[in-house]
Amino acid sequence: MTKQGLLEIERISADKTVDIRHAVLWPEKTKLDVILPEDEDGTHFGASIDGALVAVISLFETSTGTRFRKFATLPDWQGKGVGTQLLTHAIEWSRTKGERRIWCDARVSALPFYARQGFTAEGDVFEKSGIAYTVMSREL
Ligand SMILES: CC(C)(COP(=O)(O)OP(=O)(O)OC[C@H]1O[C@@H](n2cnc3c(N)ncnc32)[C@H](O)[C@@H]1OP(=O)(O)O)[C@@H](O)C(=O)NCCC(=O)NCCS
Repeated sequence: MTKQGLLEIERISADKTVDIRHAVLWPEKTKLDVILPEDEDGTHFGASIDGALVAVISLFETSTGTRFRKFATLPDWQGKGVGTQLLTHAIEWSRTKGERRIWCDARVSALPFYARQGFTAEGDVFEKSGIAYTVMSREL
């Protein structure tokens, strides 16, 4: 529960993630550009406030643990704890699947957020589509 309303986290279909992915992460690209070929094999969770979707995350099984991608909270809802709850949910889901590690290609701009969630940076900073990233991971 937040001060603003009832927060619910539930599994959603990949297509429901597209609008928030596009609006938050790649507004300058097309909606088709934010659809991943792997989406149909992923597990997608959404956080809703009073029934309206405000944040999404997509999880993929890899040989090195759960990889999460396209994690985004709508601007009006950022900094209110929604992302922390959604990531915590993803971590719990990964644990119940028996995974030992969770990781992502993190935007460097989000590093303080991930550090607070117990993630550490691995390796060098690299660039994709003009944005700086580094791998961040956490044991489960
Ligand atoms: C990164 C992102 C998904 C986090 O989601 P969020 O909903 O904003 O996350 P939270 O609100 O839980 O945490 C964000 C910050 O608010 C703070 N916060 C958490 N709960 C809070 C609360 N109840 N009141 C005020 N601040 C709070 C957190 O401490 C955190 O601060 P930090 O960044 O210094 O660690 C979101 O900010 C986002 O979409 N950013 C743009 C896209 C992006 O960078 N995505 C990640 C790509 S790797």
